[in-house]
Amino acid sequence: MTIFKNKTDLIAYVDTIKSNNKTLGFVPTMGALHDGHASLIIEGLKQNDFVAVSIFVNPTQFDKQEDLVKYPRTLDSDVGLLSKISEDEIIVYAPTVEDIYGDNVVSTSFSYDGLEHEMEGKFRDGHFDGVGTIVKRLFEIVRPDNSYFGEKDFQQLMIIKKLVEKYDIPVKVNGCKIHRAEDGLAMSSRNMRLKPEYRNAAPFIYKTLKSAKEKFETKSANKVTEWVSKQFAKHELLELEYFIIADAETLKAVKRKSNKSSYRAFIAVYADDIRLIDNIALN
Ligand code: PAF
Repeated sequence: MTIFKNKTDLIAYVDTIKSNNKTLGFVPTMGALHDGHASLIIEGLKQNDFVAVSIFVNPTQFDKQEDLVKYPRTLDSDVGLLSKISEDEIIVYAPTVEDIYGDNVVSTSFSYDGLEHEMEGKFRDGHFDGVGTIVKRLFEIVRPDNSYFGEKDFQQLMIIKKLVEKYDIPVKVNGCKIHRAEDGLAMSSRNMRLKPEYRNAAPFIYKTLKSAKEKFETKSANKVTEWVSKQFAKHELLELEYFIIADAETLKAVKRKSNKSSYRAFIAVYADDIRLIDNIALN
């Protein structure tokens, strides 16, 4: 497996891929890879000759310094997992902060036509500016034909689609289904930091989303939201940060249901000091 630590070498390698008329998929990650990432890479390999995987804990998308410091960094085991998928068709880009940002570790300010002000945008100051900055920069360096993002971060996926549209970046953005553990917990690099009792409690999040979906067939968004709040108020370990039923395109909270719109329920929950997010399509 070819591992690049700096962009100059990676750019030269991608040049050879392109001059040989081969296609390139791209899965950007912050490492601590799990089966969810693997499913994105496998999808990428089905549709492209090569897949580039970036492993970079992006400092500008963390609103809390403490989260950045605690974020798991597991490059050796990440490379081990990637080797099991494919030795020859995966290219790893694991840059330093300097290779990406030079000595100016700041994010650009983006407008995503309001998508950035909903949900995560309300709770994580500057997060989507940081995500836009790194993803745009990675797209410029890697120059993929296709890119793959998990629907677990559905708002991020919508924002990246908007970024690509606004800046006319020549890459297709593919959203991939949420990969779940057997007990329903959405796969996330943060899960490995959960203490056992919180890990055992966490599937309650998806269980509640599934019940919310059922209730939404006959009840209003307000009633379902109240019901979800009550379930978490009774829970001893999990603390609800938000639950919202939103239009799947605008991400704005639903006021009145219409048959013509697609809806999704979004949730953020604290399990001890670990913040978990999830979502589900409602219709
Ligand atoms: O979803 C993530 O892991 C990150 O936000 C991303 C897209 C790799 C950008 O750092």
